[in-house]
Amino acid sequence: MKQQPVMSMSFSSKRSSLPSKISSRTRPDLCPSSELVDKALGYLSILTGTATICTLIGLQVVLIPSAIAAKLGLTSNWFNNKSRIENQRRNTKGSPLIEKKNISNTETGSLTALKTLSARSTTARVGINPDYLAPKLMGKLSLYGKGIIGSYFVSQIYLQMAKWHFDLTKRFIADQIVLLFSRWGVMELGENAYLQCRTCWIDDCLETFLLKHSNIDDASMDQDLESIYSANGRMDANVNVVALGSGYDTRSYRFSKYFKAHFFEVDAIGTQVSKRKALEDAHIPEGSTIFVSCDFTSENWLNKLIQCGMNPDLPTFLIWEGVTMYLKSKVVKQTLHLVGSKLGKGSCIAFDYLDSKWALSDKIVKMSTKAGEPFQFGLHGNEANDLIEKTDGLSMLEHEKRDDVVELYLPKHYDGRPVGFLGDFGGFILAGR
Ligand SMILES: C[S@@+](CC[C@H](N)C(=O)[O-])C[C@H]1O[C@@H](n2cnc3c(N)ncnc32)[C@H](O)[C@@H]1O
Repeated sequence: MKQQPVMSMSFSSKRSSLPSKISSRTRPDLCPSSELVDKALGYLSILTGTATICTLIGLQVVLIPSAIAAKLGLTSNWFNNKSRIENQRRNTKGSPLIEKKNISNTETGSLTALKTLSARSTTARVGINPDYLAPKLMGKLSLYGKGIIGSYFVSQIYLQMAKWHFDLTKRFIADQIVLLFSRWGVMELGENAYLQCRTCWIDDCLETFLLKHSNIDDASMDQDLESIYSANGRMDANVNVVALGSGYDTRSYRFSKYFKAHFFEVDAIGTQVSKRKALEDAHIPEGSTIFVSCDFTSENWLNKLIQCGMNPDLPTFLIWEGVTMYLKSKVVKQTLHLVGSKLGKGSCIAFDYLDSKWALSDKIVKMSTKAGEPFQFGLHGNEANDLIEKTDGLSMLEHEKRDDVVELYLPKHYDGRPVGFLGDFGGFILAGR
């Protein structure tokens, strides 16, 4: 018999439905309410989008000499990290990391983590994403990783142009491009719409978890966090908050302003080193966050956390954001098993998954493999429910799909169309014990 979870079944959506939160994320004032103006902005977006893309393509010329030098092995960057991994793969059979050709463990770190940070940064800069530290952090990083001379400036110019494009047209250029290609069944999500929904949803789950463990009375729970903080000061929550595959996640720095809890970040060594350097450059204090380096494919993240001082008996909130798609099904199941069997009562894990129908199609697997971080995991139909149902000790607390998150987290055009592009991407799951 499966045990019932300690948390109430709808604990995250309760707080995400606070009216002040909904309006700060869906910003009813953002888009024009008239069809005519919206259409005009749509046409304008073709002009500004073309200008942005042409500038970006033009600027690639600046990067060519450095990219060639890197390819020849004269400098260290993404290209030769990829070829270095290829060499290791030929020489070393059976290492799980090398088999997967995952660049997260190299000195470049994860490029998809940079992409997700840049999408959070863009949505924060247009005023809808709660990750206010993302623009500061992205301001110190290049979308190309390290080592290509000039790439930092090209990235920053692109990000600024993408922001102007949005300000003028209320459209995200990256999402518009994906939408264009989605007609041929390529992707089911634009990075800005997806990251906006994912950040907000996980923030809500985490906030509720921390409040529930902070001795805040039920009446206060109905207020927004700033008001609760004004009345109570920094709240004590004797719980762990662990970001697994943290990338450039900033929650431990944002939430430690309100809560005294035990914050941990676990990631591949390459990404982690690059992030800590960016934090230092951006003058974002790490606070009491404990950084744990781990390769999920060959190491036990829980043992590593315990070695670094985590008390597994405390209720633990695990953020597992944007990671499952890069892991083998076996590794995903092992992680869920550890949460269900080894962590304190009241623990839970929040994660997203992609729909395997599109994410594991040949085209997408090829694309993601070329980028150095191949998609390997996805779920379709009832498989998500089955996965949690079959994990001893875990129960489904929330399972959000496209329509729920669009409603709560995306601004809308005059006709109800959400800003950005979000199709049937997969789902968000909160599972707890
Ligand atoms: C798409 S990024 C997501 C980062 C972050 N959670 C976010 O949402 O912005 C995937 C993250 O998983 C990490 N990762 C991928 N494969 C890994 C592995 N085998 N071991 C440890 N971390 C891994 C990468 O370093 C990267 O930080």
